Amino acid sequence: MMRFSFLKFAAGSLLLVTFVLPLVSSAAFADEPVIEAAAWLRYAPIDKKSAKLYDHLPSQTLVLSDSLVLKTAQQELARGITSMLSRTLTAASAPGGSSIVLATLTQLHALSPELSPPEDLKPDAFWITQAKLHGSECLLITASNDRGVLYGVFDLLSRIARGQSVAHINEVQQPYAPIRWVNQWDNLDGRIERGYGGRSIFFDNGKVRDDLTRAGEYARLLASIGINGCTVNNVNAAPTVLEDSFMAQLSRIADAFRPWGVQLSLSVDFSSPRSMGGLDTFDPLDPRVAEWWRNKADAIYRQIPDFGGFLVKADSEGQSGPSAYGRSIADAANVLARALKPHAGYVFYRAFVYNHHLDWRNLKNDRAKAAYDNFHPLDGDFDDNVVIQIKNGPIDFQVREPASPLFAGLPHTNEAIELQITQEYTGQQKQLCFLVPMWKEVLDFDMRVGGRSTPVKDLVSGRIFRRPIGGFAGVANVGLDTNWLGSPLAMANLYGFGRLAWNPDLSSEQIADAWTRLTFGSDPLVVKTIDNLQLHSWHVYENYTGPLGAGTLTNITGNHYDPAPESSEHNGWGQWHRADHDGIGMDRTSATGTGFIGQYPPEVQKFYESLVSCPDNLLLFFHHVPYMYVLHSGKTVIQHIYDSHYEGADEAADYVTKWKKLKGHIDDARYDDILPRFEYQAKEAIVWRDTICNWIYQLSGIPDQKGRIGRK
Ligand code: GCU
Repeated sequence: MMRFSFLKFAAGSLLLVTFVLPLVSSAAFADEPVIEAAAWLRYAPIDKKSAKLYDHLPSQTLVLSDSLVLKTAQQELARGITSMLSRTLTAASAPGGSSIVLATLTQLHALSPELSPPEDLKPDAFWITQAKLHGSECLLITASNDRGVLYGVFDLLSRIARGQSVAHINEVQQPYAPIRWVNQWDNLDGRIERGYGGRSIFFDNGKVRDDLTRAGEYARLLASIGINGCTVNNVNAAPTVLEDSFMAQLSRIADAFRPWGVQLSLSVDFSSPRSMGGLDTFDPLDPRVAEWWRNKADAIYRQIPDFGGFLVKADSEGQSGPSAYGRSIADAANVLARALKPHAGYVFYRAFVYNHHLDWRNLKNDRAKAAYDNFHPLDGDFDDNVVIQIKNGPIDFQVREPASPLFAGLPHTNEAIELQITQEYTGQQKQLCFLVPMWKEVLDFDMRVGGRSTPVKDLVSGRIFRRPIGGFAGVANVGLDTNWLGSPLAMANLYGFGRLAWNPDLSSEQIADAWTRLTFGSDPLVVKTIDNLQLHSWHVYENYTGPLGAGTLTNITGNHYDPAPESSEHNGWGQWHRADHDGIGMDRTSATGTGFIGQYPPEVQKFYESLVSCPDNLLLFFHHVPYMYVLHSGKTVIQHIYDSHYEGADEAADYVTKWKKLKGHIDDARYDDILPRFEYQAKEAIVWRDTICNWIYQLSGIPDQKGRIGRK
């Protein structure tokens, strides 16, 4: 029996080796710095044998209009095909002959009225298929708008780069939601709030950079994963961004984005009418303020006709807001919305509104309750071009949080989920932490609204409550570093965000695998190793940083990076874990705690309120328990904390061993760049392990059963 299984396994491996030949030739390793900048758009040359798979592709492209985005699509296709298949694609000037046809459906129908996709195409959706046009076999990439055609081109190129056959392709892809935006927290002086990949690609020294090459390249990366908008400045917004003299500068960024179908938007300071606009008030109900915003919006659209809208952080962490005049959040959102409405712009109002001077001594206080308390009562009061942008969890991008209950609390309001691509609390790109599995847990979480299946992804996309707009915003914070985010492996998070925003039903495995192949090629050892490293990295990071939902036990008042569990307590920031001599965890139950659990729909309340059903990995988020409390796993809380920290640190050490096996399988430059990062991470994991284990031992006085901490 054993022998039989082994043979089967061996035969399977042989098949793998025979058919999944590495597609990347060693010649592709020549241009190392360019590789990092290219990220997943390397278009590495494909060996001659594998390239045969694409011999049938037409050798010319036909574009049926002179639109900017279609031109971009045509150039991108030519660039990819030349680079990967060493073939030139000529541009046909008129229909005739076998072509790759890039056209919107309307343009296509003018040529061939009988062609229609198997289903209606939403904006940005595309259809790739084979069809006869004027008697010649063609490959059609069509869509209801130009941007959809561009997305179809990127999809085709991604298939070729991963060695997939496109011979009988006939596929429609629809975006899950209309809003698929990134936010950049760039300051006008060039620094980036919570950015770890160098200085701003947009701003320097209070101005828009002269050279916006990277901005254009960024837009290309974004378009390749279906992102259609980018807010370019920090949510803690400088009022000067709205100065008239700044408009022409901003329009240069919009020009760099436009060929890629990426809309520019701005974070605005709500007090702008007073702080830079010459009024003595920013009261949203004052007609002069409304007029000021209208004039401002008109001026922006004169310069940037495809401007996306405003992102607002107000009454939060020191930013001004409508509370200054006793006005509601809806008053604030709507005054902006009405200014943007004539131009079809949106207001993204962030639900991240909370009091950071909470009294920590009051056990009923709870920052987690703030978003729901502030926004749920206003449901239905927001104009229809307002979107409430809600962080995935109720606190602030911790290593593990439950889904924010607000997703279920706005049936009459547009929503977007805000995810953080930049790893503020998850290793700041110095440590590996692939966040797609975490995001998927939130997106797939079933809120049971009305007792039926209502996963978060369907709430934010607007599907459940039939909202016209909604979707996904990712805080990206790329910078001028060649590799964009400060680490080549961290780019899997940007790629993964885009893929999930396009289709949250993709699995973490599918996303990781595609990213690895596009970034590093298809050598089976490389793919297996890197997929594996990425897919386990969140769990590993959680293991040695924040146990059982207690939050990332990091330096809350400082760098959000080093271990400093004591910094969470005794201050108003509200990221409390409530660890004392007897136990740990925030009691958020309705029965004895802060009542946060009561914000969820009834079935979810029941699930979290009861210790019987509350999952171990969120136990300390919802409950305060003694250290000797026994988890579902059978371990005590304290022993779990010791064990998980040791396991996590061991797993991080193992990254180094795993990476070393890739020597010679990937280019030396990236191999050598990444190895010391893993060596560093292994050391940091030990620092974390020892700090947290010693801290919890000092507090609890309970030694580790395995003799690693406390009495031997
Ligand atoms: C976090 C982060 C801040 C940021 C804030 C926000 O608190 O540390 O730098 O401004 O989130 O999302 O607005």
